[in-house]
Amino acid sequence: MSTNTTDNSRKVTTRRLVEMKQRGEKISMLTAYDYSSAKILDQAGIDVILVGDSASNVMAGNVTTLPITLDQMIYHGKSVIKGVNRALVIVDLPFGSYQGNPMEALASAIRIMKESHAEAVKIEGGSEIRESIERILSAGIPVMGHLGLTPQSINKFGTYAVRAREEEEAKKLIEDAKMLEEIGCFGIVLEKIPADLAKRVAEELTIPVIGIGAGGGCDGQVLVMHDMLGINQGFSPRFLRRYADVASVMTDAVSRYIEDVKSGDFPNESESY
Ligand code: KIV
Repeated sequence: MSTNTTDNSRKVTTRRLVEMKQRGEKISMLTAYDYSSAKILDQAGIDVILVGDSASNVMAGNVTTLPITLDQMIYHGKSVIKGVNRALVIVDLPFGSYQGNPMEALASAIRIMKESHAEAVKIEGGSEIRESIERILSAGIPVMGHLGLTPQSINKFGTYAVRAREEEEAKKLIEDAKMLEEIGCFGIVLEKIPADLAKRVAEELTIPVIGIGAGGGCDGQVLVMHDMLGINQGFSPRFLRRYADVASVMTDAVSRYIEDVKSGDFPNESESY
């Protein structure tokens, strides 16, 4: 049952996301990396803002998410937090900030919480990083898991194709999802996996499962803001729905501005002192 009963004034917390799942209210989540965008998303009523390491792609122009640093994630997190009143803000732990050992993972998560004032962290991986996640959780830091296509492992996968189509990988994903719930994660992102597998995970878990390219059976959906707004035009996977063509709007506005400057039409008298 879906009851879209979004309360646009109440602060979203990790606990509230679980309550939303319990009453069948879908969770909306988008990425943001700066103050102005985060403010627009928050005022529009988005439930969760993810300061994703996709900032590496859409903000910095890198081919993968691997180059972005912990300092850069904290910078983006800090900027986003200033624009948000209601949404829950989660910051990604970037590649290289948690794989070394659990203490490194904890130190990175603490820096994110202390310096950006975000409310939770997200981390890619399952059983192989269990101890790191447990260490972060033990410090009272809420953790969201991320399974399926985990872009920080792109060099191992060698492709951005759909994950867990084969039985063995699907079985590991289910085990990892259950483990993440058991150790205390408040939610999980499932990226680019078959819809029936994601639906099964969402049904078997009590914590919210947020999908991206994982079908409609999840408890919520996340997209990269630049993709869904049509700012990033070079990315058109099957799962992406474009809600605007902001690149065309910007191109048109900038072209008219150039024309007006060149012709001397801008600024006119009323735009001058
Ligand atoms: O970094 C990101 O934007 C993400 C989403 C794709 C879930 O992790």
